[in-house]
Amino acid sequence: MYIKRLQVNNIRNLKPVDVRFSESVNLIYGLNGSGKTSFLESLSVLSSGKSFRSHLSTPIIARDLKSATVFGEVDIKGATHRVGVEKTIGKGSFIRVDQKTVTNNSVLARMVPMLAIDNQSFELVTGGSKFRRKLLDWLVFHVKHGFHSDWLTFRESLKQRNAQLKTKGISKRELAAWLPQLVSSGEAITEQRIECADFLINTINALFEVEKDFNLTTEFDRGWSIEKSLEEVLNDNLEIDLRYQNTRKGPHRADILFTTDKKKVSEVLSRGQLKSVVCRFYLALCQCFKESFGVAPILLIDDLPSELDQERAQILINQFLSLGSQLFITGVELNYFDSFLKQNKHAKVFHVKHGTISEETFGSESFTA
Ligand SMILES: Nc1ncnc2c1ncn2[C@@H]1O[C@H](COP(=O)(O)OP(=O)(O)OP(=O)(O)O)[C@@H](O)[C@H]1O
Ligand SMILES: [Mg+2]
Repeated sequence: MYIKRLQVNNIRNLKPVDVRFSESVNLIYGLNGSGKTSFLESLSVLSSGKSFRSHLSTPIIARDLKSATVFGEVDIKGATHRVGVEKTIGKGSFIRVDQKTVTNNSVLARMVPMLAIDNQSFELVTGGSKFRRKLLDWLVFHVKHGFHSDWLTFRESLKQRNAQLKTKGISKRELAAWLPQLVSSGEAITEQRIECADFLINTINALFEVEKDFNLTTEFDRGWSIEKSLEEVLNDNLEIDLRYQNTRKGPHRADILFTTDKKKVSEVLSRGQLKSVVCRFYLALCQCFKESFGVAPILLIDDLPSELDQERAQILINQFLSLGSQLFITGVELNYFDSFLKQNKHAKVFHVKHGTISEETFGSESFTA
């Protein structure tokens, strides 16, 4: 599965785009502010209906305009599918797949599975749980088909319960009304998360066995004590929840914990070692996906040179390529990519200048290798 062609209109500073991609590596280079991340955001719209940088439409639509469109040709098992997304200010988004209107973003996510690595991803090991949970849920969403609807039910019942917790004079009986739905959907998503987390953690451990540069323990925390059922913990914590006007424990607090010698990795490891944890986490996600579906997800890697040195980046890229992922990688300098170009004969290079994207061939004047 890979994106063959992309057409973009009115995304950020980009001039109209119509490009065809390599099914392996696509390198995108250009000066700061030229439009590289905007280009990756357009690809992300094809996969999720939104940018990986912002879930809102307004920031990605070109200034002073009311709508933007992204159109892509996607190869799935040799057949070409046409995906179009229009994002508007005020009227929502419109999605069409093979000329049929689609009302659910999840259809896109299943057709064009994609992961994005950018500078935020490197906070995976230092930041809060939200990001780690989101990535685990990305895998669960793909592997467990009932997960999405359970997750939507859980999110809605949690929202209602939290709103009630904020309501003055709310009775415990009124609060209990949301409990059955919250508990059943919460238990369901947790069960599915546990299965996928096991799969993911085993894969991460296997990756660390190959290159054991430091000890790493990875554990799944479901968001509340393993000694209690979700119903018990919600009942036991009711007074505290009422005081804080918020549901303090539950699947919305689930996390993946990385420790080394019983200490948080962020407190012990060097920046380079932390990056290596992050890279293996993404690699493990791709590997689990590949093992489940036989195809690898598409990878967007924004501003790779600022995060990894050339040698480490080349290793990472080769690992993703060996899984069969189509890669889109941005960087400011083309020189940084010289060694990739020598090794990856099918790579394509795109230059971004003031929002204009042009493909460069190996013989072109601006190619420096
Ligand atoms: N909605 C918008 N409409 C028009 N231009 C925008 C909009 N949003 C952002 N921009 C501009 O688009 C340009 C490209 O931004 P982008 O983040 O894609 O650059 P970049 O090439 O990734 O830069 P860097 O190397 O610094 O990461 C910037 O000048 C930015 O100010
Ligand atoms: Mg950028």
